[in-house]
Amino acid sequence: MPRFQLTDRVTNMQWNGMDQGSGPTLLLVHGFPLDHTMWAGQIDELADTHRVLAPDLRGFGTSTVTSGTVTMERMADDLACLLDALEIRDPVTFCGLSMGGYVAWQFFRRHPAKVARLILCDTRAQADTDQAAAARRETAERVLVDGPEFLADAMIDKLFAPSTHLDHPERIQATRNTILNTNPDGIAAAARGMAQRPDVTGLLPDIDVPALVLCGRHDAISTVDEMRQIAAVIPAARFVEISAAGHMAPLENPHEVNRAIRSFLDADGG
Ligand code: MLT
Repeated sequence: MPRFQLTDRVTNMQWNGMDQGSGPTLLLVHGFPLDHTMWAGQIDELADTHRVLAPDLRGFGTSTVTSGTVTMERMADDLACLLDALEIRDPVTFCGLSMGGYVAWQFFRRHPAKVARLILCDTRAQADTDQAAAARRETAERVLVDGPEFLADAMIDKLFAPSTHLDHPERIQATRNTILNTNPDGIAAAARGMAQRPDVTGLLPDIDVPALVLCGRHDAISTVDEMRQIAAVIPAARFVEISAAGHMAPLENPHEVNRAIRSFLDADGG
C-alpha cells in the first residue's frame, strides 16, 4: 500500500500514513491509542473507487508527537491543514472510529465546508463523566512513568468481540503491538485531550450532511443502544449494526463494514 510522508508547513507537523487510490476522498481516522494500520481491511478495497487517506494523528504511529495536551479540536485542525497541504479541495467523507469520531465532531464543527458526509464508527457524543476524565488523567501520568504495557493489558479485552479472540487472535496481537509501540507522550497528550472534550449531543440535530453510524454488536465501550440514539438524532443518518464485532468493528468484520460503507457511498453519490 502506498505510504505517504509529508511535512505540513502550516502546523510544522510531520505526517505519515497511507494515501491510496483516486476519486472522491475518504478520510479514515483511527482510534486511541492506535494508528492507521487499524484500517488495513478497508484501505485496499475502498481504494478501488476512492482516494483513501489514512493518516496517523498527532502523537501516534510515526507522525509528530506533541507532549502536554492535544485536544480533539487540535487534531481536527491538523487534518484540515493536511487536506490543504495535499491540495484536496473538494469536501471529503470523514470516517472516524471512537477517538477518530470525537475528532469528526470537531472537524464538522470547525471545518464544515470540508465535509461531504460523515461515517461514525463505535464512538460517543457525550463528554466524559468527572470520574472518567479523572481516570484518563491518571492514565496519562502513569503511561509516562510505566510505558504503554499496562494500557494494552487494560484495553485489549474491551476492544474486541469474543468471536475475534477465537477466530482472529492475530488481529488482537497486532493491535496490542501497535499500542506497545505508541509513544507515551502521544498517548498521554491524547488522553488529556479526550478528558476535556466537549459534549456534542447538542450538535447532532444540526448535522446537515448524510451520516452513516456503525457499531459492533458487542461493543463494550460505545454501545449499540448509545450509537442507535446518535443516529436517531442526526437528521440524515442511517444506523448499521455489525455482527461478530466489538469496538474495533472495521478490523474485526471488514467485510460487513466495507459493505455498509460502500452502500452508503453509492446511495449518496459519494
Ligand atoms: C478509542 O478506541 O479511540 C477509545 O476507546 C476512545 C476512548 O477511550 O474514549
